[in-house]
Amino acid sequence: MTTRRNLLKSIGLSTLALSTLSAYGCSDGQKTEANVMPSDDDPDYWQKIRKQFILSDDKVFFNTGTVGVMPRVVVEAVTKHLNYMAADVADWPYKDDSKERFISGYQDLMYIRSKVGKLINADPKGVALTDNVTNAMSYIANGIDLKAGDEIITSNQEHPGGRCSWEVREKRDGVVLRQIEIPKPIQSKEEVVELVTKSFTPKTKVLMISHIISGSGAILPVKEICNAAKAKGIFTILDGAQTVGNIKVDIQDIGCDAYVGCFHKWVGAPTGTGFLYVDTKRIGEIWTTVASAQWDNHEDDGYRFTQRGTGNFSILFGLEAALDFYFQVGHEQWTDRVKFLGDRLRSGLAENKKVKFYHPADPLMCSGLSVYNIDGFTGAQLQDAYWEKGRMRPRSVGDVFGVRHSTHIFNSTDEIDRAIAIVNELSV
Ligand SMILES: Cc1ncc(COP(=O)(O)O)c(C=O)c1O
Repeated sequence: MTTRRNLLKSIGLSTLALSTLSAYGCSDGQKTEANVMPSDDDPDYWQKIRKQFILSDDKVFFNTGTVGVMPRVVVEAVTKHLNYMAADVADWPYKDDSKERFISGYQDLMYIRSKVGKLINADPKGVALTDNVTNAMSYIANGIDLKAGDEIITSNQEHPGGRCSWEVREKRDGVVLRQIEIPKPIQSKEEVVELVTKSFTPKTKVLMISHIISGSGAILPVKEICNAAKAKGIFTILDGAQTVGNIKVDIQDIGCDAYVGCFHKWVGAPTGTGFLYVDTKRIGEIWTTVASAQWDNHEDDGYRFTQRGTGNFSILFGLEAALDFYFQVGHEQWTDRVKFLGDRLRSGLAENKKVKFYHPADPLMCSGLSVYNIDGFTGAQLQDAYWEKGRMRPRSVGDVFGVRHSTHIFNSTDEIDRAIAIVNELSV
C-alpha cells in the first residue's frame, strides 16, 4: 500500500513541505501506533480502520449527514498546531506570509487546493477554500451579475444554506427564484431530468440544485441536467454539501459551471472547512464578496476567494490530514464502503413491509443517506427510540419522513444489522 509520504509526494507536496509540516508539530508521515494503516488485503481491514477513529464504542453514530467524525490523525494535527500556536507563536518570523503557517486567510493554500482538485477532478485554480457550504454558495450568489427579471431555477428540496443567498438576490435585485417540485421519493432519474429541463424558459439564467438532496439522500442525474442547461446558456451550480466522501465527484465529467461543498461531513475534516469551485473559463465573471489584497487577482481566481482575512490555521492542518487519510484509504474503497453499508441497511429494512422509504426507489440513486419511517412514529420518536434501545444516533427529518440514517466507513455491518433489528422490533 502507498505510504503516506509517497502519497503526499505523488500529489505534489515536496520534501520541504513535509519537513515544514513536521516543524509545525504535525505528522510528517512517520508511522506511529496511531496512524498505521492496515494493508488492503487484511481480512480485518474495516475493523482496523475503525480503530483510526477515537469515536466511543459504547454508542453508534449514524448522522454524518449533519456533521462527520474526525479520524485520530485529524484531531492530532489540529491539536498539535493549536498547542504550537499557544506555546511558540514567537517563532513566527513574519517574513513571508505566503508560506508561513500561523494564521490562515492570506495565503493561496495551493498545496491544499491541489488535493481538493484531485478529490473532485478539477483544476485547482478554480478551487477556493471556504468555511462551509453556506458561505461558498453566498460568494457565488452574491458575485454573479444578474438583472431584475432574470430567472434562477432551483428545487423545493434545497437546504437553506444553498437556497437563501438566492432569496437575498431576489429581494434585493428583483431576480425571480423559481422552485420546481421534486417528488419524495423519486422514482427514476428520467423523472428528475424531465422535471428540471422542462422548467427552463428564455429568462432562465441560473440553475442551482443539490447533487445529493439532504432530506432524501437522492443522487440527482446532474450530468444530464447540466448538459441540458448549458445547451441553453444557463449557468449551473451544484450544492455538493452531501457528496464528497459519500460518492465520487468528477467535475470534468459532470460539466457544471460551479460546485460548492464541504469536508466536515463525509471527509472527516474539522468543522469549518468547505470549498467552492468555478470553471476557470467562468470564474472571472464572479465578483469577490469578501475582499482583501487579492480581490482582483485573475491569474489565480481561486486565491481571491480563498483570501478572506485571519483564520484558524490549525483546522487547515486537520483538513489536510483528513484529505491524506481519505486518499490513503482510497477514493474507490472509501465511497464503495459507504454505499455498501447504505445498501445493506436499505435492503435489510426493505424486508419489513411496515417501513416506508423516502430515499429514491432506484438503488443507483442512493449511497450513504437513507430516509425512512415506520407507522405510528414521528421522526423525533423514532430517533429517540433508537437512542433508548441501542444508543444509536440517526437524525430525525420531521414528523412524516422519519429519520435520515447516514452510513460511513467507521460504521460496521454489525451496527447496521442491529439498527435493522431495532426497527423490526419497533414495528411489530
Ligand atoms: C444540501 C446542503 N446544502 C447546504 C448545507 C449547509 O452546509 P454548511 O453548514 O456547511 O454551510 C447542508 C448542510 O447540511 C446541506 O445538506
